[in-house]
Amino acid sequence: MDDSRETFGPNAFVTGFPVKHSRSPLIHGYWLKTLALPGSYCAHEVAPADFETFIASLKDRSSGFAGGNVTIPHKEMAYELADRPDELSQELGASNTLWLQEGKVHSTNTDGHGFTANLDARCPGWDSHDAAVILGAGGASRAVIQALRDRGFREIHVVNRTIARAQELADRFGEKVHAHPMGALAEVMKGAGLFVNTTSLGMDGSEAPAIDFSPLTAEAVVTDIVYVPLKTPLLKQAEEQGFRIVDGLGMLLHQAVPGFEKWFGKRPVVDDDLRKLIIADMEKH
Ligand code: ATR
Repeated sequence: MDDSRETFGPNAFVTGFPVKHSRSPLIHGYWLKTLALPGSYCAHEVAPADFETFIASLKDRSSGFAGGNVTIPHKEMAYELADRPDELSQELGASNTLWLQEGKVHSTNTDGHGFTANLDARCPGWDSHDAAVILGAGGASRAVIQALRDRGFREIHVVNRTIARAQELADRFGEKVHAHPMGALAEVMKGAGLFVNTTSLGMDGSEAPAIDFSPLTAEAVVTDIVYVPLKTPLLKQAEEQGFRIVDGLGMLLHQAVPGFEKWFGKRPVVDDDLRKLIIADMEKH
């Protein structure tokens, strides 16, 4: 082999600004170790002003990376700069996973996969209802809307403090997606089988509004994409009211799977030890 980097396997990155809090190196490091694969995965901080140069260094191979993950604030730029964004990221206008293939930078967005794979693993049958309610219309909400629509939900109700943002998403994702103001929450929850919180309400232990989940169907699942704390105030309330709940940590773990497979050639599994490793890290910080 003429390239010494190849001797040690592919190198992959997570880039963001800042990036030091990212748990992706722990996740990919765990898989590299347990699968005994050669390669490395590191946090690589890039300031917004330097991001274009970084992508160029990926393309001309001078960075030495086979690809990587992209997090805030670079997801939109990553999409714009990729040579071959896939359909999912084109619709979202944002990419979180990049890989080099035949000299071109390919990109996708795996957040929606992370969301559905987490529910598939922890709550089989979660998708057997027609209607879902999504609280929030920020960046994180988009991938969830896309994933639910593609899974076959017929009515996706997006409820947001700023109705204009919800309306923008309804326009973007098609006729199954409906926008509502906060005041309509109880009404749109009637008969829905899934409730997803994508807002920062209750994050890091902050106050969350009281929600009466009883309009949902009795078998409904309530999930939160926030995973700090693991059991958010909204999940706690839903559980106390007798609903099945799924925390958001699994979304983080499952969204990492497709990228790892692209860079290192083997599809990894999200297991309990990985979950415990990340929870232990969350308890340290
Ligand atoms: P992200 O990209 O992580 O989704 P974001 O784009 O800042 O973050 O979106 C945050 C979401 O939380 C939005 O839906 C926001 O509502 P607005 O669009 O009205 O801003 C919602 N959110 C944040 N704080 C909120 C609060 N105190 N009450 C209601 N909604 C809130």
